[in-house]
Amino acid sequence: MQIAVFGLGYVGAVTAACFAVDGHCVIGVDTDTYKVQRIMEGQSPIVERDLEDYIRRAREAGRLVATTCAEEAVAQSDIALICVGTPSRRNGSPNLEFVERVCHQIGAALAEREKPYTVVVRSTVLPGTCEQLVIPALEKASGKRHGEGFHVCMNPEFLREGTAIHDFYHPPLTVIGSQSAEAADRVAELYANIPAEYVKTDLRTAEMVKYANNAFHALKITFANEIGAWCKREGVDSHVVMRLLTMDTKLNISPAYLTPGFAFGGSCLPKDLRALVYRTHQHDLTLPTLESILVSNRLQIERTVDLITQLGKKRVGVVGLAFKAGTDDLRESPVVTLCGYLIGKGLALRIYDSNVSLAAIYGSNRAYIEREIPHIHTLMCDSLQQLIDESEVVVLANHEERVTQHAHRFRADQTVIDLARCISPEAIRGRYLGLYW
Ligand SMILES: NC(=O)c1ccc[n+]([C@@H]2O[C@H](COP(=O)([O-])OP(=O)(O)OC[C@H]3O[C@@H](n4cnc5c(N)ncnc54)[C@H](O)[C@@H]3O)[C@@H](O)[C@H]2O)c1
Repeated sequence: MQIAVFGLGYVGAVTAACFAVDGHCVIGVDTDTYKVQRIMEGQSPIVERDLEDYIRRAREAGRLVATTCAEEAVAQSDIALICVGTPSRRNGSPNLEFVERVCHQIGAALAEREKPYTVVVRSTVLPGTCEQLVIPALEKASGKRHGEGFHVCMNPEFLREGTAIHDFYHPPLTVIGSQSAEAADRVAELYANIPAEYVKTDLRTAEMVKYANNAFHALKITFANEIGAWCKREGVDSHVVMRLLTMDTKLNISPAYLTPGFAFGGSCLPKDLRALVYRTHQHDLTLPTLESILVSNRLQIERTVDLITQLGKKRVGVVGLAFKAGTDDLRESPVVTLCGYLIGKGLALRIYDSNVSLAAIYGSNRAYIEREIPHIHTLMCDSLQQLIDESEVVVLANHEERVTQHAHRFRADQTVIDLARCISPEAIRGRYLGLYW
């Protein structure tokens, strides 16, 4: 393919060199004449392992050139990869002036072009940037409409400095967001030789996933460091602890616990986090990430209360009371806390949980629920149907199998709030509100 790469920094220089070595014809563009000159001399504009060798090979093969002229680059290509910087402003917002300028330059160069063109954003940009900035800027400068004269795709970059070339050839996956499946597939052809799963999605999801990834990476490092700080105070080797932690690929290094939904609870997680925070305070340690987990968890409950009360309805039914489906353990169930809040707001509450029979629960479980909701027995329904009949709003708090089977029983005048992604909106006649979807 004939590719133009805008921005020859850490991402752009690696991308340009690797695609050129792979047999594509690449024209790199940068406003920085030093970077352009370095590439034309077969040298790397940045320090990155093996990059100079790749640039030299690409130059010798006659498949890589660099220029400061955007118009020339667009004229000689069918696809542009935008790899310019999106640095932080003082208030934390990303500075998009480089992205915007490149879009104007590409757009202007597209004005007289007959052949279709594809613009791929590889820079990290916040969700909505392609739709609100990239596409309008290109449309304005080119006088063409998106989807007709040109297409925009979002293809987030996952490489790491220091191992960038290795990462380019071994990405965890290739994500391409677009409003056009054909445009996404055309971009995917660039990666035909790269052994990574290709995932086609929409523009916003592709923009978002990069932030989710980087937040997760930062969180992992901080988590390991905070556990490390605590380990040291306890005379425990943190590397041994983390090796054991990562050896658990069922619950730890796995998709487990990584689906957005309602707050956690139960008899272990809240209790053990409280003990951890108590102990680390005894050591005079401040571990903000670990300490904020319970705070964040409580906010999930408050956010759900807001979602329910904003509907302005009085009769609310909650399906699933235990801290998760398939158990009758009510201890520290976030649904019990939610019910407590709703009662406090004066709502007429009904509760149903097929696993919870008040007559059968005893011990600390019974003591807990009687302390939290003393008149619980007056709120419990005998059947899901009774709860549906008596509620204007039904809150699905956990995966109650009966709900999926009986979704058709919800009335058209009812609102269903799904905290656990139990049912699809199409399965019910009434209004559907998902917690985080
Ligand atoms: N560095 C990384 O490891 C990495 C990894 C993944 C994603 N990203 C993202 O990729 C983007 C680029 O990052 P980087 O580290 O390569 O940035 P960088 O600052 O190293 O390079 C950006 C380049 O763009 C050039 N540029 C600015 N305006 C231009 C214009 N109008 N035309 C042509 N070139 C122009 C600059 O001169 C510079 O050389 C950022 O959004 C970043 O968040 C970076």
